[in-house]
Amino acid sequence: MERNSYGLVAAMLSAAALALAAVPGSLRAQAGAPRTAQALVEDRCSLCHGLDGGSVSSLYPRLAGQHPEYLVKQLGDFKVGRRKGTMNEMAADLREEEMAALASYFAQKDVPVRMSGEADLAPVGQYIYKKGNSYAGVPACQECHGAKGMGTARLPRLSGQRSTYLVRQLKQFNRRERTNDNAIMHSIASKLTELEMNAVAVYASGLN
Ligand code: HEC
Ligand code: HEC
Repeated sequence: MERNSYGLVAAMLSAAALALAAVPGSLRAQAGAPRTAQALVEDRCSLCHGLDGGSVSSLYPRLAGQHPEYLVKQLGDFKVGRRKGTMNEMAADLREEEMAALASYFAQKDVPVRMSGEADLAPVGQYIYKKGNSYAGVPACQECHGAKGMGTARLPRLSGQRSTYLVRQLKQFNRRERTNDNAIMHSIASKLTELEMNAVAVYASGLN
């Protein structure tokens, strides 16, 4: 009799353990198959970046339409702590296949490009974006990020990105708080005034 009830309890415990492992809301990294991008996005990324990568508020960057290679690189850098911030925790348990799947998920989404921020600043931003600032030694942004802000596999797309995020990144580059591959952008951002950072961000974000 005692044996039977012990067996029953053991069976119930293992059933409970199985049920826990299957809870979709607690997507923990496991030894088995990689989690799908869809599941990870619903469970985690969408909270800040939105289901479609359009970002839920100006606090978070848009990921929609960004180059998959660039996204993979950033996720890898966050995972190992080369780039620092909230994202370190979000990327800590991601596997390589999962990062690749997440990057292609977001890269395929459309970005609604529209001008945001103070419209009067756009012409100032346009000048810097297209010509740089030879008086201060700032190169034209379009030399690397492209005339339409579309970037390349190694260079982030700026078109459609939130201008507030772009300004924040320029400030982080300036202070070297963005710690990964900051050499080029640090030297550029350190020569931009606050007004110029805001102007170029407004212009680049609205590029279409
Ligand atoms: C709690 C909010 C939050 C969640 C959840 C979150 N992120 Fe982020 N993410 C951020 C913030 C904030 C930044 C900007 C980092 C900075 O300012 O340095 C960011 C930046 C990024 C970047 C870099 C974008 C760029 O243009 O350089 C990528 C890629 C990214 N997140 C992917 C993801 C993925 C994939 C997930 C889900 C696995 C995720 N994030 C979950 C807040 C979040
Ligand atoms: C010589 C090439 C080069 C030029 C010129 C250049 N950039 Fe960049 N920029 C880069 C590279 C490379 C990165 C990505 C660094 C990395 O891999 O993390 C970058 C990243 C950025 C980011 C971060 C975007 C994101 O999604 O996180 C912003 C914002 C940015 N650049 C703005 C500008 C602006 C504004 C100018 C012109 C004033 C400019 N860049 C000129 C090479 C350049």
